[in-house]
Amino acid sequence: MTDQISRRELLRTAALGSIGLGLAGSANALTLKESEATLEQLIVGPPQKAKSMIGVPFERRETVRLGFIGTGLRGRSLLGEFVNVPGVKVAALCDVVSEKAELAKAIVEKAGQPAPAIHVDGNEGYHALLERDDIDLVVIATPWEWHVPQALAAMKAGKHAATEVPAGYTLPHLWKLVDTSEATRKHCMMIENCCYGWGELFALNLVKAGVLGTIVHGEGAYNHDLRSILFETKDEGLWRRKHHTQRNSNLYPTHGLGPVANYMDINRGDKFDYMVAMSSGSPGLNEYRDEKLAKDDPRNSEKYVTGDYNTNLIKTAKGRSIMVQHNVTNPRPYDRINLVQGTKGIYRDYPARVYLEATKANHQWQDIDQYKAKYEHYLWKEMGDTARRLGGHGGMDYIMCYRLIQCIREGLVPDMDVYDAAAWSAPGPISEISVAKGSAPVRFPDFTRGGWQKSRESIPVAKKSMAAG
Ligand SMILES: NC(=O)c1ccc[n+]([C@@H]2O[C@H](COP(=O)([O-])OP(=O)(O)OC[C@H]3O[C@@H](n4cnc5c(N)ncnc54)[C@H](O)[C@@H]3O)[C@@H](O)[C@H]2O)c1
Repeated sequence: MTDQISRRELLRTAALGSIGLGLAGSANALTLKESEATLEQLIVGPPQKAKSMIGVPFERRETVRLGFIGTGLRGRSLLGEFVNVPGVKVAALCDVVSEKAELAKAIVEKAGQPAPAIHVDGNEGYHALLERDDIDLVVIATPWEWHVPQALAAMKAGKHAATEVPAGYTLPHLWKLVDTSEATRKHCMMIENCCYGWGELFALNLVKAGVLGTIVHGEGAYNHDLRSILFETKDEGLWRRKHHTQRNSNLYPTHGLGPVANYMDINRGDKFDYMVAMSSGSPGLNEYRDEKLAKDDPRNSEKYVTGDYNTNLIKTAKGRSIMVQHNVTNPRPYDRINLVQGTKGIYRDYPARVYLEATKANHQWQDIDQYKAKYEHYLWKEMGDTARRLGGHGGMDYIMCYRLIQCIREGLVPDMDVYDAAAWSAPGPISEISVAKGSAPVRFPDFTRGGWQKSRESIPVAKKSMAAG
């Protein structure tokens, strides 16, 4: 990792981490004043060295050749979607565990494709995959700490990078993704599947059709009881719990925030301006552990610092407000909220419902059935049956994979670019800083360096199949 990210940047990152762990608590902690100076630099960002990637179309390719780094639960699930997308060829797979790569290989073969090459050679084994000349797009589905080094290396090796969420969790790393995408002219997208959920695309259609009026507020969340998964001795249990010992922040903001950003044209006419964040205490994992683990289990010595509830309020440059929330450590039903409020009505998920002033609904939520035919998104109309049959997260995974490959095959501009990856991931580090400063407002960096002011589309609401240019 150190050869990809400079020592200075790691020190800056450590400095921000020290804020999160208590300003005076560590001998290495910077004083508040020094930290603020560093923070200001990170908000302004480094000088731009290469042209923007906003609006840059993919080079058109009939067949899209994929390399996969990380063939764990998510990598294999994504692979199962991609092999069913027309025009995809899986060239190579990489993991640190050969059994997982073999399981992934079997998925490709079962789909009728030739056996992909396998690269298994420790944590840095992915470089061998990146050296290949038969890959156009690298899909990264590894633990969070690997997303940035692997995406940077992929772009430097001349490949587009599609990384799992969040793209990164420090501001220096997010800037590095932006700068490297601009320098290499390769796209770095976050594969934020929730933007392609049925409800999210239905709500996007309502917004774009003007049914909700002027948009004033949105809410999104990742509220999902992961306690048993976090303590498993396999898969995410091997790495995800560690993050709860390191940062008191919104660890996973993008599932809730990405769709709301699309409703509000973030980076396309509006931008995140500043955030205030608040964390509750963190008894959830401690109490769960006390109840479930044996007294001599080494995990009893872990100290969990991530608040059970981390709640963020974002103000946008155009004056809208957004609430983002993270809770994975208390018993509760799954909820991404997915709410968008306008001057003429509101949409909210879990369950899907609307309130439209025009229908004189007398302050009661309405079922969406009567609006389905008119406002179902064209991607779901066209591909909903296939997507539901393949099943990943109710079908949204297939819709996302299909759309990404369609953009490459037709030479279109990607729906989500490196600026979205950076802005939607930024609540991670920004909430950490705000929480450490007693919920003080913290400005967002403008990763687009002014490009946000230009209006442009995110996920199109109507079918287009001509090359952008
Ligand atoms: N978008 C979604 O809906 C969704 C769902 C689940 C997980 N995820 C994300 O996907 C990513 C992976 O999660 P997961 O559930 O598959 O976890 P996992 O632990 O099942 O899989 C991670 C895989 O990465 C491998 N790995 C670790 N270090 C590596 C390295 N240096 N090089 C190559 N391979 C390496 C591991 O051996 C493992 O097979 C995470 O970022 C997670 O947040 C997203």
